Amino acid sequence: MANPIARAAYRLTQSARVAWYGGHHLLANRLGRGTAFAERKVEVENDYPKRDAFLREMQALFERDWKNIEQGLYAAPAALDAGAIRTLRRSLDFLRDVPDVARRRRDHVHDEVLTEEARKNFPRYYLQNFHYQSGGWLTEDSAKLYDFQVEALFAGTADAMRRQALVPIAAHMKGCDQRQMNLLDVATGTGRFLTFVKDTWPRLKTTALDLSPAYLDEAKKALKPWRDVTYLEANAEAMPLPGASQDIVTAIYLFHELPPKVRTIVAKEIARVLKPGGLFVLVDSIQPGDTPGFEALTEFFPQAFHEPYFESYQTWNVAETFESAGLWHQFQTPAFLSKVAVFAAPKH
Ligand SMILES: C[S@@+](CC[C@H](N)C(=O)[O-])C[C@H]1O[C@@H](n2cnc3c(N)ncnc32)[C@H](O)[C@@H]1O
Repeated sequence: MANPIARAAYRLTQSARVAWYGGHHLLANRLGRGTAFAERKVEVENDYPKRDAFLREMQALFERDWKNIEQGLYAAPAALDAGAIRTLRRSLDFLRDVPDVARRRRDHVHDEVLTEEARKNFPRYYLQNFHYQSGGWLTEDSAKLYDFQVEALFAGTADAMRRQALVPIAAHMKGCDQRQMNLLDVATGTGRFLTFVKDTWPRLKTTALDLSPAYLDEAKKALKPWRDVTYLEANAEAMPLPGASQDIVTAIYLFHELPPKVRTIVAKEIARVLKPGGLFVLVDSIQPGDTPGFEALTEFFPQAFHEPYFESYQTWNVAETFESAGLWHQFQTPAFLSKVAVFAAPKH
């Protein structure tokens, strides 16, 4: 039976998150303008969604998230992301960083992290200040700030969007012994998604893979409460994992940041490591047509932020890429500003 107190608590915490992170989003825009942000002209062909339509879709995401929790598909999120002091410190760090981000946006600087030294260890496409973020993927400060920045970008909805990947995983796990199953999160970043996985299936063996040592360090901190987590500092293009070794693979907000050719390589790698009958779940930005009326937002995003591969991502055929890699496309469903795409590996 529905628990009205739990439901009220969920609503309260999600509303508080939207107010807190949405407030930072607005404040960052304002501060950016006041300092160095001579607005780059962003031109879109479609009309921006009306505020009511935008809020309705946001509300629908939270309703869906709550229904999933109520049905027992996954665990409710913790009321607080972190302690009050740490949250306030992150807020200050985020606001202090705004002028630097604004300067990069104004001057369109996005290669501060491209050095001779870094070139030895990372592919060229990786060495950019995505979103104009300070330190790119390379520094401890960048990794510490990342979760806050993503939530500020999405006005407090990023976690609820990530959690939609848990729905097909719950269906796949039904009737299985979690201790006998494993899950690989490709490009785990700070491990945020894996904390939701572990909240729900604490004994599931998980692997957190990312190319960034600094982000993986953050993931280690976030996932410290759980056992059975393996950390792999590796390129998703050539994962140091045996073929047919994973029951479930996930990739959250990775593919829009990869060049088209690399997307195909990573798709093949994912298909290679999945066991027969395994599950692959992708969460990434919506593409034009996924949420009618939101097309202007996908036009706006790569102009306002440094997203060098987003234009090609807009027309990228997700189903075709993974089908060519050998997986079967099951379904795709939009989740506010993101979409969830689900694939199965053939049984033999
Ligand atoms: C936008 S973040 C997404 C992080 C996380 N999945 C999330 O839900 O927020 C992209 C991540 O992809 C990682 N990444 C990008 N290219 C990669 C590659 N070729 N191999 C492994 N990780 C990669 C970056 O280090 C970064 O942590």
